[in-house]
Amino acid sequence: MSNKMWGGRFTERPDAIMEEINVSIDVDRHLYAQDIAASKAHAAMLAAQGIITASDAKNIGKGLDTILSEIGEGAFDFKRALEDIHMNVESRLSELIGPAAGRLHTARSRNDQVATDFRLYVRDTIDQTDAALAAFQHALAARALEHAATVMPGFTHLQTAQPVTFGHHLLAYVEMAARDRGRFADARKRLNESPLGAAALAGTSFPIDRAATAKALGFDRPMANSLDAVSDRDFVLETLSAASIAAVHMSRFAEEIVIWTSPLVGLVRLSDKFTTGSSIMPQKRNPDAAELVRAKTGRVIGALNGLLIVMKGLPLAYQKDMQEDKQGAMEAFSALSLAIRAMTGMVLDLVPDEARMKAAAGEGYATATDLADWLVRTLKMPFRDAHHVTGRIVALASKQDVALHELTLKAMQEVEPRITGDALRVLSVEASVKSRTSYGGTAPKNVFSQAKAWLKRLEKERKLG
Ligand code: ARG
Repeated sequence: MSNKMWGGRFTERPDAIMEEINVSIDVDRHLYAQDIAASKAHAAMLAAQGIITASDAKNIGKGLDTILSEIGEGAFDFKRALEDIHMNVESRLSELIGPAAGRLHTARSRNDQVATDFRLYVRDTIDQTDAALAAFQHALAARALEHAATVMPGFTHLQTAQPVTFGHHLLAYVEMAARDRGRFADARKRLNESPLGAAALAGTSFPIDRAATAKALGFDRPMANSLDAVSDRDFVLETLSAASIAAVHMSRFAEEIVIWTSPLVGLVRLSDKFTTGSSIMPQKRNPDAAELVRAKTGRVIGALNGLLIVMKGLPLAYQKDMQEDKQGAMEAFSALSLAIRAMTGMVLDLVPDEARMKAAAGEGYATATDLADWLVRTLKMPFRDAHHVTGRIVALASKQDVALHELTLKAMQEVEPRITGDALRVLSVEASVKSRTSYGGTAPKNVFSQAKAWLKRLEKERKLG
């Protein structure tokens, strides 16, 4: 038998391989809630416009509610022969309510249907991702407040550069997550137009009300061009771009956790909750969660690349290629969600080794810039000269194998006779971070007020949301 949903002109069954390549139910079944919501909105609009009767619309709505709970309870029999979620739902609807089910598909096509469903799905994903990022920010800001004055080495080129505070370092990720949230919010704004009613590609001759269905589904307005409505997948690409950048941020942080927890570095410790052991080396505490976050980024970027390649060169309007838009995107969104949640867990779990951090902050002559700045400030030396003088003092300390603050004043004065005991005070790591009070700088006082401000903002947002 040919396909009962579209097989009118077909006399033969599809080849088994045809069915296998065509079927999408294993992926698009995840759109069931959105598919049913869109169908309900469509049926109600058809009745309001006098295109179907109110009693048919009522039965359709009731039947769709039944299907929604059947699927929710795992009691729905998804049939591969029915290809996709749209036809599975419609076929079940006709079992439940009879011929009226066949009126639901008036003035629409699977092309506008799938575009609508997936927009709704991506919109839900954006909202969930935003909430996860907000929780990540909250965890970071809380730990930053706790560690506003905890000194750690700041790095450039992964070489000890200048002392910073651990709180300041954590707040950097709060800022990154804020931009990620902004990108998702932007994508959401552009995404939030309804394709429903574009039908197959050209619109319809029925007197539909696209503004009504758009409104019922929480869209801002209907999409203005029916060809665009069924063939646009920018909304997925844009969301995957935002997801890729967010995943890159997660991977950078994950990499830092891997580095910090290495026994060679030892700045941070994760508890048993976020580490695993080795089956052969009893001493190991592996940061697997962080490593997996680092790796999941590959999936997200892969999905973006994959879909860009699917869409590249596709002529208007709908092409079946576009059925391949969902699987990678869905996997990418869930990988990102898991990565954000795992990072949030690690942020709350990690314990910095404050003594080790402080000692490491002082290694590698990290306060050399503070000495140069002292020479500029106190002796009015041009910075370039101060840099040179400090370089010679660092070389001296290195030769004697001591830290900068361990050099005697006399030794320093051999390089620059005008240096006084006052200069020694700027060489401690605490004095160094404390002096960095410029806007956005690492001074504990700055970090404290930034962390407080973030917590306040996030808590206010939580109450409103
Ligand atoms: N399963 C299809 C997809 O995901 C639904 C749209 C099918 N449209 C069609 N004309 N065959 O793209």
